[in-house]
Amino acid sequence: MTDEPRLAAVTGWPIAHSRSPLVHGHWLRRYGIRGHYIPVALAPEAFAEGFSAMPKLGFRGTNVTIPHKEMALALATDVSDEARAIGAANTITFREDGSIHADNTDGYGFLANLRDAAPAWDAAAGPALVLGAGGASRAIVHALRGAGAPEVWIANRTAARAEAVADHFGEGIRVLDWERAEAVAGDAATIVNTTSLGMKPGEPMPVALDRLSSGVLVTDVVYGAEPTAFVAAARARGLMAVDGLGMLLHQAVPGFERWFGVRPEVDAELRAAVLA
Ligand code: ATR
Repeated sequence: MTDEPRLAAVTGWPIAHSRSPLVHGHWLRRYGIRGHYIPVALAPEAFAEGFSAMPKLGFRGTNVTIPHKEMALALATDVSDEARAIGAANTITFREDGSIHADNTDGYGFLANLRDAAPAWDAAAGPALVLGAGGASRAIVHALRGAGAPEVWIANRTAARAEAVADHFGEGIRVLDWERAEAVAGDAATIVNTTSLGMKPGEPMPVALDRLSSGVLVTDVVYGAEPTAFVAAARARGLMAVDGLGMLLHQAVPGFERWFGVRPEVDAELRAAVLA
């Protein structure tokens, strides 16, 4: 090992909006580590070449985001069970022996956020309703099954995408009509919004909350300086409700530890730094 500063990155297309450099930058300063974590924009057609060059350029690892999560998995030489099961990677480690390790920490981040922010929540208490069928949905469905949810119900505006997620995971997953989600929401122990509804002011709720019982946990992958309308409405009804910022922060922990050698804390100071 040389004495060069440690390097890691996040690659996506586009990448300017990513908050990951704020997360890792905060930790690098806080732990006094000589290192850099930078955004690297790679167009889809440039990804394979750019990715393969990263270890030669001194990168110890990289996070990968949309649209490269599947391609990164395909280019890895060593794939974690999580990444294989989800079918996508978000955390890549370039090892000194030349191997490329692919992991997916989105499900870990999802569960760590809920355990942190809603310790009373128990995934096994009843079925989980997952709204949306994109990449985040896949990682969350896998995490909920692993955490003991007896069944996962997926509802998506475009039913074919929900069917594709259900086919991918098989047993224990049921597809519901998007219009029916509201009617069954009251029977779920956990309700997760993975759609982009709620990012823009004035958008409708993914499902109405008036029939929910007090034990249900409502969570959103969306986050911002203010709670999303969905999370705010759930809190106003006295329900446990957690937004998605903690998922972003916790999913970053394993990568930081592998690349920079310190297991970092997710705390209020980090939240403030990322939302500033
Ligand atoms: P990600 O990978 O972050 O989950 P994505 O693949 O773009 O992002 O998925 C976005 C999700 O939000 C999808 O489930 C999408 O539904 P469709 O599959 O029907 O597109 C959902 N979504 C976006 N806008 C929506 C809206 N106005 N109403 C309902 N669902 C919406």
